[in-house]
Amino acid sequence: MATPMKGLVSNHARYVQSFNVFLAKSTEHQSMGEFLETQLPAVIASIGNGKSTINILSVGGGAGEIDLLILSKVQARYPGVSINNEVIEPSGGQITMYKEHVAKMSDLENVKFTWHKETSYEFESQMNTEKKSKKWDFIHMIQVLYYVKDIPATIQYFHSSLETQARLLIIVGSENSGWKRLWRKYETSFPLEGLCTYISSDDIKRILDSAGMNYQVQELPSHLDITSCFTEGNKDGELLLDFLTTTCDFSKTAPPELKRQVMEELRKPGCSEERDGKVLFNNNMSAIVIEP
Ligand SMILES: C[S@@+](CC[C@H](N)C(=O)[O-])C[C@H]1O[C@@H](n2cnc3c(N)ncnc32)[C@H](O)[C@@H]1O
Repeated sequence: MATPMKGLVSNHARYVQSFNVFLAKSTEHQSMGEFLETQLPAVIASIGNGKSTINILSVGGGAGEIDLLILSKVQARYPGVSINNEVIEPSGGQITMYKEHVAKMSDLENVKFTWHKETSYEFESQMNTEKKSKKWDFIHMIQVLYYVKDIPATIQYFHSSLETQARLLIIVGSENSGWKRLWRKYETSFPLEGLCTYISSDDIKRILDSAGMNYQVQELPSHLDITSCFTEGNKDGELLLDFLTTTCDFSKTAPPELKRQVMEELRKPGCSEERDGKVLFNNNMSAIVIEP
């Protein structure tokens, strides 16, 4: 009997392994880095005006690479000002890596780090139970909203905890990306186990519009080299396929017809382009900056 397909998100070790291959094979972090370098200074231009401490909240901070870039930009804009950087991250492995990255950095004397090993929903519930209403100067949710329980409620909650000059930054897959096309077609075939919802920038904009929030959107061009997915038995290719389909061991457990269709779809122009013998999946993202 065929093994049923299992979701990737509940298998933390395999999730982190496949996410790391995704990062190595994509321009995801380079593209975010460029956005942070060129656009973040304007976004944070007034978040810390007149403050002795700037409070930053990272939702789903992962291993912290992007968080540390953000901190360097805040430090550059507000030299010498104390920064309180709190991170909501349910994966212990990711927190360990985050701490290792922090330990390797110099120039973080004015930054206090706190890690909350929990989901955003647990954090919110805890704050409500303790009747705490902490306000933040900058909140970011970078490539994480797919995994939260109730996306509109989560955005509402964090938006309501912004200070008057603060900003909320959301980065998600663009409505023009290959992700959107792949998922629109196969969402019901992939095992999401209630732990993952595929959303893209158009869904977020709809949520923000119906809540009457003010925001600006910018497209971040990015691609993912999926050439190895087409070599049977290639380990990186298998991990990438897992990440693309949120399925644990997709190439071994997917029904043959689904696998055939997904492999065919991945090469199609709406998903990927072929360049220099490589298959480059459209990994464009949208950066959405929301005002209080
Ligand atoms: C795709 S990674 C993004 C990490 C980082 N922000 C980046 O862009 O490199 C998603 C992260 O969100 C975390 N995560 C998953 N579910 C979450 C939840 N419900 N609340 C907060 N974080 C969550 C995962 O453990 C993972 O580290």
